[in-house]
Parts: sequence; C-alpha cells; structure tokens
Amino acid sequence: MTAGVAVAVAHPNVALSKYWGKRDGPGNYPAVPSLSVTLSGLSTRTSVRFDNSLPEDVVILNGEPTVGRVRERVTSLLDRVRAAAGDSRRAEVVSQNDFPTASGLASSASGFAALALAAVRAIGLDWAESRVSDLARRSSGSAARSVFGGYVVLDAAPVGVTEDCVLPAVSVAPADILPLTVLVCMTTELPKATGSTAGMVETLRRSPYASAWLEEAPRIHARLRAALLAGDFATVGELAEASSLAMHASAIAAGLVYWNGATLDLLGVVRRLRESGLEVFASVDAGPHVKVLLRETDQDVVRAAIDSVSGLKRVVRARPGPGAALESVEG
Ligand code: DP6
Repeated sequence: MTAGVAVAVAHPNVALSKYWGKRDGPGNYPAVPSLSVTLSGLSTRTSVRFDNSLPEDVVILNGEPTVGRVRERVTSLLDRVRAAAGDSRRAEVVSQNDFPTASGLASSASGFAALALAAVRAIGLDWAESRVSDLARRSSGSAARSVFGGYVVLDAAPVGVTEDCVLPAVSVAPADILPLTVLVCMTTELPKATGSTAGMVETLRRSPYASAWLEEAPRIHARLRAALLAGDFATVGELAEASSLAMHASAIAAGLVYWNGATLDLLGVVRRLRESGLEVFASVDAGPHVKVLLRETDQDVVRAAIDSVSGLKRVVRARPGPGAALESVEG
C-alpha cells in the first residue's frame, strides 16, 4: 500500500459550562455535560502520513519529537483508527500550534480534534463528523467539542457506560448567536503543575465537594444552554462564571489550587467592571489564566482595566469560530 496523507486544522475552545470529572472505567466518558465555544484566530495544523516503510509512529509537536505520555496519547488514537480500517501501517504525525502552548487555551482540544480528522481521512475512512468527534473524545474530552464550530455541547455519559458507547459532541448554536469576544489573559509562561486529566481524578477522589459539583454542574449547564439559545448574553456570562467558580471550589477543596495572584486580581477587575455596569464575566480552566468574556463593543474599556494588572503577561483576543476542517488529502 502507498502512503496516505491528510492535513487538518482545528481551533481551541473555551468551555462556558465546564467538563470536570469522568465516569469510572475506560473510554474517557465525561460525568457532567459541558458547553463550549470554538474560537477563531488560533489554530493547530496537523498532518498525518501513514506509510508502510515506517517501523513505528513518529510524533512531532511544535517542531520537537515527542516521547512518553504525550506520544502514547497520540499512538492510542492512531491505534483506534488502524483497528477500524484494518490497516497496520505506522504514521508520521506533525502538529503545530500558532498560539503559545502555555497560553491557557487547551492545545489538547485543538490538537486531538485536528489529529482525529487528519488520521481518519489519511487512512481512507469516510466517517461523519460525529464519529470523528467520538474518536477525539476518547483522547481528550474537550477535543470532541473542537470538531464543531460555534457553540457545542458534550453530554455526560450515563453511569455504568461501557466503551462501546458512541458519545460525540453536538453543535447547538452558530458562532454569531452572541456578540461574544474572549480575551485570554495569560498570567504565567510556565506549564501548569497538574493537568486536567489528573486534576479531575484527584477532585472526584478527594474533594469533599465532589458530589456537590456533580449535582450542580448539570443544573448550571441546562440554564446556560437555554440562555444561549435565547441569545441572552448576560445570563450566559453569569452562568459561565458560576460554572468556573464551582469547578474550582471543588478542586480547591481537594488541594488543587490552579490560581496565582494575578488570577485573583483579574477576577477582581472583572467583578469591579461589572459593578460599574458592564456585562463582563470571567472563566478559568485548569490553570492560572483568565478568559474574560465580553461584548465586542466593550473591548477598549475592558482591555484598559485588564492591562492595569501587574502579573498579566499577555492577552490573546479570540472570537467564536469554525470547527475542524480538512486542508488536503492524498491517497
Ligand atoms: C477545565 O479535555 O483536557 O478545560 O479528557 O482528560 O483530556 P481530558 O480533559 P480535558 O479537560 C478540560 C477541562 C477544562 C474544562 C473544559 O474544557 O470543559
């Protein structure tokens, strides 16, 4: 067999209602539903080349060959694709982000979405987007959502779910349903100490508030989804901030403090801007960076206030955008 090559581009997403917690057992199934917005302007571009002359998979991320856990996560996805296609060829994967890896924008979301799409097409499978999304989810829950553009939901899996259950993300609203801008405020250049996967496991295992989070998250999610479909910017923002704070409260009680001083200062700035009458909200993922959610028209005043925070390293501006797309494919 000859080489099969495909190149795909995908974008990071920010969850408005957070995925934090997995079902027991294999398959990487979420224990709570989440709703995210896929962002434009920032992308991961991944090429996958299956080649019968390769003795093993080669994985190059941002110009560096990978080893250990990072390489294993990529190889596991390739193994699933090989098994589905009945094809044993090894692959060369080359992936590049055009945004800083420590930016607080999960590169695993755009990375595994682009990888899933490129790998499926390179090996010659003609899968629908939902099957690509399910494949991406098995590597990283948030990646299932980056397969689609605009606003995207990943439902919780039922208790006792088994690995044969197909659980893709679904698109729920187009990018232009809200006048949303996201300012990603980086508060460190350092990688986070505890990744999302380990953080979720620790939270569910050790937090006295884990069950409170698991009960509250679906309620916040349902209200946020309804507010989004009604085009209610302020309620979406309020609930996004509530979801993020509840997630962190449960993690902090397990000893996982992702925040630094600048995170708290930024949360304070956002609160004060809101008290002054602006509709501006904050969301924090498993790291110290703050995503500020605001109306496009309030950008200048919000940006000026944010820039006064001394620990702020840089700000990346993002807008709702498209899902993963194929750039090229060759048999
Ligand atoms: C805080 O998708 O990175 O960003 O499935 O273990 O790879 P794995 O986790 P991941 O977790 C994302 C956690 C979050 C919230 C979110 O994106 O919903």
